[in-house]
Amino acid sequence: MSVIKVEHLTKDYGMNKGVFDVSFEIEKGEVFGFLGPNGAGKTTTIRHILGFSRPQDGRCEVDGMDCWKKPDKILKQLGYLPGEIAFPNDMKGIQFIRFMARMQGMSGLGRAEELIKRFELDPSGSLKRMSKGMKQKIGIVCAFMHNPSILVLDEPTSGLDPLMQNVFVELIEEEKKAGKTILMSSHIFEEVEKTCDRVAMIRQGRIAATLQMDEIEHNKKKVFKLEFLQIEDYQRFLREQLDFQAADEGKKQVWVRVKDKDINAFIKVLANYPLKFLSEVKSTLEDYFMNFYGGDSNVQ
Ligand SMILES: Nc1ncnc2c1ncn2[C@@H]1O[C@H](COP(=O)(O)OP(=O)(O)O)[C@@H](O)[C@H]1O
Ligand SMILES: [Mg+2]
Repeated sequence: MSVIKVEHLTKDYGMNKGVFDVSFEIEKGEVFGFLGPNGAGKTTTIRHILGFSRPQDGRCEVDGMDCWKKPDKILKQLGYLPGEIAFPNDMKGIQFIRFMARMQGMSGLGRAEELIKRFELDPSGSLKRMSKGMKQKIGIVCAFMHNPSILVLDEPTSGLDPLMQNVFVELIEEEKKAGKTILMSSHIFEEVEKTCDRVAMIRQGRIAATLQMDEIEHNKKKVFKLEFLQIEDYQRFLREQLDFQAADEGKKQVWVRVKDKDINAFIKVLANYPLKFLSEVKSTLEDYFMNFYGGDSNVQ
């Protein structure tokens, strides 16, 4: 049985905004990425999974329980990091953490201290004076401190500097090893690529694709940039049966896309050409994403 199930979820806010017929399932122990540009419908979907919002159509389930009908039961076993956290301004960080621990029915602070150390957070100051990054760390501590078996994280690394993003990635890797089920939304391709087993791409409130990460790895293309010594070689090379991305005759440079599985054949072709240089232009999940999104990931 899947741990999180979203079935034909629809919430129409009008003007083509909201989520429409969104479906996906997350298995136990899976790290699932929910990837899409701003306004795509990630937070709306997540709020339905938490039982904060009533579906117009379709349903969400956690551990077989309907999220709208049994929100209390669901919240007990789940760690949630909201996309935008509304903090009470008159509390110190540590007071808020204690308050949230009590709300979760915890007797102590659970893993909070360990997490505070890991993220190099000083929670003694007032929330009002905390930077976005510090507040995000407080949110992370609260989501993980009761050691829940399910984590729902809405853009978890927003506001974190690169060092802390790495600390977060390590935490996710550990949680995954411990068998946790994790849903994580993001508009950053790279972070999903690092941590997730599977990814659903959402755009304009609709799922554009759901992909296994190793499927993406396997089908990923690398882009190589080549520069030739002789113009004759440059011209001859362009007649090869390859997937050319761009060419610059003046500089005798060519950009060519090669699937990972075709690398050996590509190297054989290259052996026939004296080159000035060859380098790989890093291609990412972003390129893959672009294929699905028809070239512009920012179009709403
Ligand atoms: N309560 C609401 N009423 C009306 N429109 C909303 C509401 N919540 C979100 N929206 C709109 O629905 C779309 C999806 O929003 P959201 O789920 O927050 O996107 P994301 O989290 O992917 O950035 C946006 O266009 C947003 O403005
Ligand atoms: Mg959001």
